[in-house]
Amino acid sequence: MQTSIVIMAAGKGTRMHSTLPKVLHKICGKPMLFYIIREALKVSDDVHVVLSHQAAMIKERLKQDFDNLHFHLQDLQNFPGTGGALMQQGSKKLLDTKYNRILILNGDMPLIYADLLENLLRVNAPMVLGILELQDPSGYGRILMDGDCVKGIVEEKDCTQVEKKIKKVNAGIYVVDKKLLQEFIPALENQNAQQEYYLTDIVQKGVQKGVEIKVFMGDVESFMGVNSKLDLCSAQEIMLQRLRKKAMLNGVIMHLPHTIYLEEDVEFVGECELQEGVRIIGKSVIEESVIKSHSVIEESIIKNSDVGPLAHIRPKSIIKDSHIGNFVEVKAGDLEGVKAGHLSYLGDCEIKKGSNIGAGVITCNYDGKNKHKTWIGENVFVGSDSQIIAPVKIDSEVLIGAGSTISKDCNTGDLVLSRVEQKNVTKGYYKFFKGK
Ligand code: UD1
Ligand code: CA
Repeated sequence: MQTSIVIMAAGKGTRMHSTLPKVLHKICGKPMLFYIIREALKVSDDVHVVLSHQAAMIKERLKQDFDNLHFHLQDLQNFPGTGGALMQQGSKKLLDTKYNRILILNGDMPLIYADLLENLLRVNAPMVLGILELQDPSGYGRILMDGDCVKGIVEEKDCTQVEKKIKKVNAGIYVVDKKLLQEFIPALENQNAQQEYYLTDIVQKGVQKGVEIKVFMGDVESFMGVNSKLDLCSAQEIMLQRLRKKAMLNGVIMHLPHTIYLEEDVEFVGECELQEGVRIIGKSVIEESVIKSHSVIEESIIKNSDVGPLAHIRPKSIIKDSHIGNFVEVKAGDLEGVKAGHLSYLGDCEIKKGSNIGAGVITCNYDGKNKHKTWIGENVFVGSDSQIIAPVKIDSEVLIGAGSTISKDCNTGDLVLSRVEQKNVTKGYYKFFKGK
């Protein structure tokens, strides 16, 4: 049976203590809301997102990844609460959906995935509730049961001391026939501790009407709700485990995987190896490469290369067939067949096959106002501790002596030296220290 999905993301997220809307807080580089929407779209072609607080900003951000969502604005002033999220703006009527079965999801559940939603949707009843059993149920609405029968949901703030001990909790996932919602939503009241319209009250209404209510038990790794920055951190930990697992099953070798940070958009091709403490973020592609301990790679492509330990590859870099050693920073660098073994800054540059960058070489790309480019051809040897003042072009087959400052273009075949000639003062040591 086809299902419409409504994702509720209009809440203020007060417990995050943040100016950023809760659902835009990131998990592995993507807003929390991205994940649940992506999974929802695998299950339904009719996905609705309810916004209110900072709606324009959230909509704008979602447009980067999705173009087929239906947005609704909740009237938070007059109809606050998860029940209000299901109402048409300015009235208590149920918002419009395409299908007669509706899956309603809290927007703050980034760990949910499509297969699980499919299983939930297979449960056949006019009302199905996603639930969890928790050792520490605090913060969640408790499920009131009479034997196997659901009797209602009571929010923590409205719980008696006895109810607080209930370990079965509401996950914030509901499958309900549209007809029932059309009846129950307009009838919701806000007589409770928070003076909000609780969506959870539809359960009691269902019980009163004799509606068959079934539950679907999930696990905390998939159904957890993110309310605080502490929850955000726990959710990211679980998401990371999933990303690492997927990468390893696709052939990536990881040493001490729990120390490796990856993001959703990172792609691995072929056989790669990541040592401990590696951080790879943004849209990066790592192909047939070894990334050594404690290196950071941001929005870059690394192919047939080894990088690190302790290297920093900053956005828009393309590194192919190269060796990048320790304490080397590359930014917007296009390097192919290059060796840069130690302590260099290579920014806004293009370096070709067979070139060797000595220790401590710096491309001086910034003049205080603008950034400039450095071109280095094939088989160039740049001696240690040289500064290359951009814009500058060094043709292929140039030898630059150590400690040179390059401010003019160099031609093929040149030996380039720009340093003060060495002067040795005989016995100068003894004169200075008054010795022998
Ligand atoms: C809710 C449930 C609780 C459940 C828990 C699971 C209610 C009344 N309570 O509580 O039973 O155990 O989720 O995580 O539903 N939202 C709106 N509009 C609003 C308020 C909230 O769209 O006016 C959205 C939020 O953006 C969020 C979701 O609904 O994505 C849940 O809201 P939240 O305030 O986090 O509810 P909880 O207190 O966690
Ligand atoms: Ca919540």
